Amino acid sequence: MAHFIPKNRGPAVIPGIVSSNTISDAYRDSLLISYDFIGEVDPDPTANLFGRTFAGPVFAGPIGGANNKPEFGGVVGYAQAVREAGSLYFPGFHDKEEWKEILKEKIPAARVIKPLKDIDAVLEEVQYDTENGAVAYAMDISHGKTFYGEDDGQEQEFKMKTKEDLIRINEASPLPFILKDVQSMHDVLIAKEVGVAGIWLSGHNNRFPYSVPPLYLLPKVREAVGPDMKILIDGGLSNGYDAFKALALGADAVVCARGLMAAFTKDGQEGLTYKIMEMIAQLKGAMAGTGSPDLAHINRDSIIRL
Ligand SMILES: Cc1cc2nc3c(=O)[nH]c(=O)nc-3n(C[C@H](O)[C@H](O)[C@H](O)COP(=O)(O)O)c2cc1C
Repeated sequence: MAHFIPKNRGPAVIPGIVSSNTISDAYRDSLLISYDFIGEVDPDPTANLFGRTFAGPVFAGPIGGANNKPEFGGVVGYAQAVREAGSLYFPGFHDKEEWKEILKEKIPAARVIKPLKDIDAVLEEVQYDTENGAVAYAMDISHGKTFYGEDDGQEQEFKMKTKEDLIRINEASPLPFILKDVQSMHDVLIAKEVGVAGIWLSGHNNRFPYSVPPLYLLPKVREAVGPDMKILIDGGLSNGYDAFKALALGADAVVCARGLMAAFTKDGQEGLTYKIMEMIAQLKGAMAGTGSPDLAHINRDSIIRL
């Protein structure tokens, strides 16, 4: 009998199956902003997270592509442009030499570490980040298996993480640990038990078919974790009005990957810095139009679902 050999380890681009990104985009676009035009505020979008202050709650997520643009400074150039906008950069795991350079330049950054099968190797990575000035560390937990249910891996083998694994990883450093790719209340409640500093709701660019839109889960997640746990969210949030919706529904910050990479690929460092600053300016516009003087005063009632 033939043995199935997958041709694709993700994202889950499957003929006849609607992409989770498409489902998520449709949900996002069903959420509208109910503007209040009576009264006036001068909004301040400044965000305080993970012990740092940022120009706004719009961060740059892990995505390949910058390494193909040496003319724009590659991955380090990308990180510098994010810093220029007063934002936080979450590089992926693969660019190891660039990561060292980013930390050497003291660029505010937090790496998304892969769910390596070898937990001791994970702990070594966490220790490196702790000793070298990272803002936080994260893990993209959906990468343990492929959408065919096989163990995933790239240069190293990956494995799904247990609650006990996550406790060890969380306790390995005083830095904030952020659990990325959370897509269910099951994982939210475990993250809360583990005591992570942050949850990052993300479908990881259609890694699994028919995953729930992160924005759909967001209000329930905020209710479950209470006010102190930091919640990040991504998934097609590439303008400041999308960011406003997410903040109103309970997020502390949004992360943008594809939207920012598109700006960098087209217009280099300047394009990337401009795009982040534009998103923060748009967020400020939505705050002005809803009487929100600062992030803490953005109100859930400003969002209406069609
Ligand atoms: C080409 C590509 C590479 C990615 N690489 C990573 C990665 O290494 N680690 C990770 O956690 N997420 C990775 N992602 C997922 C993104 O960080 C993000 O979760 C997802 O694309 C949704 O955000 P967006 O809609 O703003 O792109 C990648 C996405 C793309 C498109």
